[in-house]
This record gives sequence, structure tokens and C-alpha cells, in this order.
Amino acid sequence: MLHRLKFLTAGESHGKGLSGILEGFPAGVPLTEAYIAQDLARRQMGYGRGGRMKIETDHAEILTGLRHGKTLGSPIALWIQNRDWENWKLDKMSHTEPSKSVPEITLPRPGHADLAGIQKFGFTDIRNVLERSSARETAMRVALGAVCRAFLKELGIEIASHVIQIGPIKAQSAGTDDCSSINTNADASEVRCLDEKAGDQMIKHIDDTRRQGDSIGGIFEVLASGLPPGLGSYTHWDRKLDARLAAAMMSINAMKSVTIGDGLNVAEASGSQVHDEIIIEENKIRRASNHAGGIEGGMSNGERIQVQVSMKPIPTLARPLRSVDIKTREPGIAHKERTDACAVPAASVIGEAMMALVLTDAILEKFGGDSLEQVKTHMAATGAR
Ligand SMILES: Cc1cc2nc3c(=O)[nH]c(=O)nc-3n(C[C@H](O)[C@H](O)[C@H](O)COP(=O)(O)O)c2cc1C
Repeated sequence: MLHRLKFLTAGESHGKGLSGILEGFPAGVPLTEAYIAQDLARRQMGYGRGGRMKIETDHAEILTGLRHGKTLGSPIALWIQNRDWENWKLDKMSHTEPSKSVPEITLPRPGHADLAGIQKFGFTDIRNVLERSSARETAMRVALGAVCRAFLKELGIEIASHVIQIGPIKAQSAGTDDCSSINTNADASEVRCLDEKAGDQMIKHIDDTRRQGDSIGGIFEVLASGLPPGLGSYTHWDRKLDARLAAAMMSINAMKSVTIGDGLNVAEASGSQVHDEIIIEENKIRRASNHAGGIEGGMSNGERIQVQVSMKPIPTLARPLRSVDIKTREPGIAHKERTDACAVPAASVIGEAMMALVLTDAILEKFGGDSLEQVKTHMAATGAR
């Protein structure tokens, strides 16, 4: 669903590291490894994450596409070393001989890629599947998304996220509309929740769930402000911005629904409650409300984009569910790996990255240009800036 930009990630969870390539990205965008590191650190925060977050302090090395602090318009290749590679390289991910100390995994976890994955490829060891199906891959998406964020920032476009529900606990108020304050406040909360009281209850709920050997999901919201109208298009199904964002969010491991603006509530409301009246304010045509979540007819309408994404509870459980051994066909309990009890706060940062990738693509599609300056000129020429 990307039209001008391409990206590819490669890498296994216990392999040497993750590679990523971003292609079609404009020249002249200021970029540093430290800038990317900020978002990688934000992905690693969040109450409910397990052991790996302590092992890994992710750092993306910029291998190509950068000179004198600015992008060159050539492919940008990034590399994130897996810090625990040193612990496992001879065992879990040996490129040559299987290791006796790493037995085959034969009890698939319900809710994970395990069973369908081995059936698809004809494997007998589930590790061949889980190494890539793990959400470790999303670290690279966050790094590539940070590169896009650097571009969007130059255009005055900001992206933020916060958690609005964990299990049954719902946040009552966001407190502010401004994207940068939302991120500052969400970053200060262990569960990225802007409602302090609900945040405390979420932490308690995660603790209770973990104590029971269980896991919990939730809902996060990703917002984007400062957008010109007309990104995406009503002319073809695959150019609709809402469809592109939905696909991008749904591609994050464990996401089960994506809604835009009022989302599911539109089903029971009447038209006059759902549609945003058009008004003129300080000589600008705008909306009296934003039930549409910034997108109408598959295009940005200039209001803040608002996407909500639900995440299912994590499939690996400390108290595993029933499964069947794929070799012996004997009933058993599912395989246990290191696991998080809740990863909704981290997922919201991954949602920001997917938003940044899709919006960068949509900006380049609409305004063209090989460099940041050209994009700015084209935007100004259309009256968008
Ligand atoms: C940030 C993040 C961390 C995750 N951590 C785990 C984990 O520790 N254990 C686990 O079983 N699943 C974890 N998941 C979810 C699985 O990767 C996901 O459920 C699995 O790939 C199956 O894909 P599906 O749920 O989209 O069908 C995580 C997901 C995200 C977004």
C-alpha cells in the first residue's frame, strides 16, 4: 500500500540483528543516529515488558544514504545489532549445524504464528517460524519510521500516540489536543496513558494479570497534526489514506482492529451526530468537530488524523494453554518463551512509526520532489503551506 516509498526489513529475533532499507526517501533531510535512538528507546519503555527489554538497548546504525548529516536521496540502510546475539550465536541461530543445547520446539502456541507457520513452510521446528514472526522485527520499523518523522517534522507535521485502554481499564480524558504535549505526557507515563488515575489502575491490572500467569491487550490511539488536505485519494481503492493506514496498523503483530475517528460508534449514531460541519474561521475553511478523524473520502481533510488500534493479549503465557505436539501428536501444553505480559504501550510507538511511513509516502505522492526543499516548494505552490 506504499506508492512512492519502499521499505524492507530482514532479521530474526535471536539472529545477529535487524536490517532495514528505506527507498524513495528525499535528499536534504537532517538525520542523526541519536534522533532515531530516541524512538527506539520509546519503544522499549512501557510497563509489562519482560526480560528482553533489559538485555536490549537498541541502536540503529545508519549504514548508507547519509552525508554530512543530511540524507542523499539514495537508499537508506539501517542496522540494529541484537545485543543477546553473543549469548546465542552458536546455538539458537547457527547458520550451519543444529546445536544439541537447543531442542526443537514442537508444541505450538495458540494465538501465535507457530502452527500455521510450520504447516506453511513444512518445518518440524517451530523456532524456524517464531524467530521471524516475533515482534522483534518492529524495532526496525520504528527506526525507519523515525527517519520519516525527521522529514515530516521539517514540514510541521507531528505524530503522537497514547494508550486509551488496557484490559477493562479505560482512560477518561486526554487532557490536551496538542501532539507534542501528548507525546511528552505519554512518554512520562509507564503505560503511555494521559489519564493518571486510569494509568495507575492499568499498572495494577497488568500486575494482577502477570501474577495469574496471563496476558492482557488494549487499545492505543495514534494522532497526526499539521497535515495538508488532499493526501490519499478517492479515485482508487488502494490510494485511500484510511485504507493505507488501516493496512499499516493491522500489519503490526497482534493488532486486531483499526478504527478511524468515531470508529465503531458511527454505527449507532445518526448522521447529524457523526458528520463534521464546515465552518469559516479567520478566513479558513475548517470543521466544527472532528468525528471523521481527519479523513473523508479517503483523503486527509486538514484536521488531526486520529486512528485507534486494538491489540489482543500476548499469546505466550506463563501458564500456557493446551496444545498438541506436532511430532508425537500427543496433547501437551504450549511452548513457553520469554514473554511480555502487556505490550500495548510499546505497540503505540510502533503505531506512530507506521503512521510516519504512510504519511511520508502520501506526501511524496502528492507533492513529488527529490529533495526536502523541492517538496517544500511544491507544497507552498499548492497553497498547502
Ligand atoms: C511490541 C510487541 C511485543 C510483543 N511481545 C510478545 C511476546 O513477548 N510474546 C508473544 O507471544 N507475543 C508478543 N507479541 C505478539 C506476537 O508477536 C503476535 O501475537 C504474533 O506475531 C501473532 O500475530 P497476530 O497476533 O497478528 O496473529 C508482541 C507484539 C508487539 C507489538
